[in-house]
Amino acid sequence: TSPLRLGIAGLGTVGAGVVRIVQEHPELLAARAGRAVEITAVSARDRTRDRGVDLSAYAWEDDAATLAVRDDVDVVLELMGGHDGIAKSVVEIALDHGKDVVTANKALLAHHGQALAERAEAQGRVIRFEAAVAGGIPVIKALTESLAGNEMTRVMGVMNGTCNYILTRMQSAGLPYDAVFQEAADLGYLEADPQLDVGGIDAGHKLALLAAIAFGTRVDFSGVELEGIGAITIEDITHAADMGFRIKLLGVAQMTGRGLEQRMSPCLVPASSPLGQLEGGTNMVVLEGDAIGQVVLRGPGAGAGPTASAVMGDVMDLARGLRLPVFGQPATGLRAARAAQAAVP
Ligand code: NAP
Ligand code: HSE
Repeated sequence: TSPLRLGIAGLGTVGAGVVRIVQEHPELLAARAGRAVEITAVSARDRTRDRGVDLSAYAWEDDAATLAVRDDVDVVLELMGGHDGIAKSVVEIALDHGKDVVTANKALLAHHGQALAERAEAQGRVIRFEAAVAGGIPVIKALTESLAGNEMTRVMGVMNGTCNYILTRMQSAGLPYDAVFQEAADLGYLEADPQLDVGGIDAGHKLALLAAIAFGTRVDFSGVELEGIGAITIEDITHAADMGFRIKLLGVAQMTGRGLEQRMSPCLVPASSPLGQLEGGTNMVVLEGDAIGQVVLRGPGAGAGPTASAVMGDVMDLARGLRLPVFGQPATGLRAARAAQAAVP
């Protein structure tokens, strides 16, 4: 069987993490996929930057759009970020040139997921994005595959590692916001624009993607009620702790009698609860369905290894020939969120 050939656009925290996995485990990947998984081409802005991995065996493209049309690339890994500009063009060009796409880019899919899913289906291609929601936790697979027999009733959780890191470090070390922010940056958790993290926007993107899959609606990021953690003070955290609570940036999406509700905001949770005890960059996602009841998934929500792990899970699915629709059902069948609301009695 011919190898699956990867072209990696973006060699930062996540992209370099993916290169590391492919280089460290070639036999394991080949044995599990039934074919070799190889990198043929890579792209980033600065060719001279040391990324801690050896890139000498791969073709270098200064322009990620050129990488996306190469004949020796089967799957384009979009690991650059940003919801417009180069990331969007590279995904579109890849699909139009017969490539499948794996991305970690929740901003891109939260804003353009419907159009990109329709484009992928029109071209007979797939887009996979496990890494885009809750980092290393296999939450997309859980929803689209393992729980596919359920009518989902609610999805909720802590979905931004940066905010959870900042809030828990402020609480446990008594350090102010500014002091712990840099620690999160050093761990590779932050978005290129950190306001996406602390403003709750990144977590809102993730919630909107989960809701689309869970409820069969088009991604409706504009329908997420958003509040970030920027206004939380050390005094708020101390008062909450005195009362036996922790402050968490918590997202909830559910179908109610009033329709689809999506909310991402700082909430008080009991300190002794699983959510209250969630520390550092860890995420927790709670999935509720009519047959399963409740499933709780907990794990690393950000950083090089965990995020690259999720990217590689998608790559391995493609290597094995698993080709699910982008949001777990054909994009043309996804209902507008408002129509979905109107349909709820
Ligand atoms: P990053 O460290 O900032 O890396 C971004 C990479 O994209 C860099 O290698 C950069 O090149 C490259 N790039 C940027 N603009 C480019 C352009 N115009 N042409 C070619 N290359 C370009 O970001 P990251 O943390 O790896 O995140 C990448 C994606 O994964 C984002 O969508 C992010 O939201 C998502 N994600 C990240 C994490 C995480 O924990 N970090 C977790 C889940 C999802 P240079 O290196 O040359 O500057
Ligand atoms: N900036 C994101 C976070 C990366 O802190 O959770 C993972 O999506």
